[in-house]
Amino acid sequence: MAVIDIARAQQTPETPLDVDAIRRDFPILAQTVNGHPLVYLDSAATSQKPRQVIQALVDYYERHNSNIHRAAHTLAARSTELYERTRTRLAGFINASGPAEIIFTRNTTEALNLVAACWGGGHIGPGDEIVVTQMEHHSNLVPWQRLAEGKGAHLKFVPLTPTFKFDLAAYAELLSPRVKLVALPHVSNVLGTIAPVAEVSRLAHEVGAVVVVDGAQSAPHMPVDVQALGCDFFALSAHKMLGPTGVGALWGRTALLEAMPPFLSGGSMIGEVQWTKSTWAPLPQKFEAGTPNIADVVAFGAAIEYLERLGMERVRRHEVELMRCALGALREAHPELTHYGPGDLDFRGGVLAFNVGHGAVHPHDVAQLLDGQGIAVRAGHHCARPLHSVMDAPSSVRASFYVYNTTEEVDALSRGLDEVKRVFRRVIERPQ
Ligand code: ALA
Repeated sequence: MAVIDIARAQQTPETPLDVDAIRRDFPILAQTVNGHPLVYLDSAATSQKPRQVIQALVDYYERHNSNIHRAAHTLAARSTELYERTRTRLAGFINASGPAEIIFTRNTTEALNLVAACWGGGHIGPGDEIVVTQMEHHSNLVPWQRLAEGKGAHLKFVPLTPTFKFDLAAYAELLSPRVKLVALPHVSNVLGTIAPVAEVSRLAHEVGAVVVVDGAQSAPHMPVDVQALGCDFFALSAHKMLGPTGVGALWGRTALLEAMPPFLSGGSMIGEVQWTKSTWAPLPQKFEAGTPNIADVVAFGAAIEYLERLGMERVRRHEVELMRCALGALREAHPELTHYGPGDLDFRGGVLAFNVGHGAVHPHDVAQLLDGQGIAVRAGHHCARPLHSVMDAPSSVRASFYVYNTTEEVDALSRGLDEVKRVFRRVIERPQ
């Protein structure tokens, strides 16, 4: 008999998340840090994990552990089924055409490197152009730098508008038949800027370029439909979406993946092996050489299931409300902050980067004082050094929100910044 989840059946995209119930699923959040309740505002670096994910990991090792795709015994069949179930679930989560389009990797970085090596290696040549944006994480910049350098190709950069949005008009100007690849983040890990990927893809395809999306900061936070986005590759990391570390995924269009050579070679990815030559397994095995991170892929399935139960529209709405509350509260109580990122919340994810006293207070000092009050934020360049030159700041403080954060935690951040202001008053008030 089918079990009907009444609460879920009654839920609409407008139903607010039950954050108290969500927080009960995250044992780590119930602790004090430096004598204060933990306020975890660093989910853009890595998210916390619900019991359901931790339990899936424990269950896997206690009951099912075995290698996959190899043996005829029961545990091997069960492990294979659990591993492949995550692939199917992820394919549905991002609306891939099918599970064979999902390649498991270690993380977003590895997924992007796979595209650079296997697609870029065969398609980029001297004089070609690769278009990236000014807001790249190093993971979606350095692989293209290396590819361009090795092939004699050139990088071009899409600028940001003065309000930190993707400059679509400037992007259109950069496009020409020389552009073979466009790479961009769906959501910036520093500014929170949401890029207009569907429009970017449409324009790129008009000049015959493929589009690679770094989805590390979007897949955890909003509905993602790779077919509607119209891109060609999409990379994500499990650990930023309630799953374990050590697992990422690359989605790619079947025709492109089929035409690409393998990334790593060895066991599992072969068709026939002779002494001097080999053939490759069909998708997705061609790209998954060696024993993969089975347990963490299985637990990733539990994370996706958790997010599906919440509903990604609701996740997005929750973060928009937190961001609205945070920008309102901080602008009013803390005029000493410089904010980075679009003010228009339709174009912004749950990432809040700022500096104190026009950067007169070092971000590490801010983060340390906040940590003293139990508040976890990230300070530094957030793996986006060139972007910080556009922000005219060597580094910044970043608070980032997720499903378990509350407006009370936004208030705690504001109170934490009162303490920063108290300690650094003289520095903040000094004329710049
Ligand atoms: N990419 C992660 C971040 O932005 C680590 O913090």
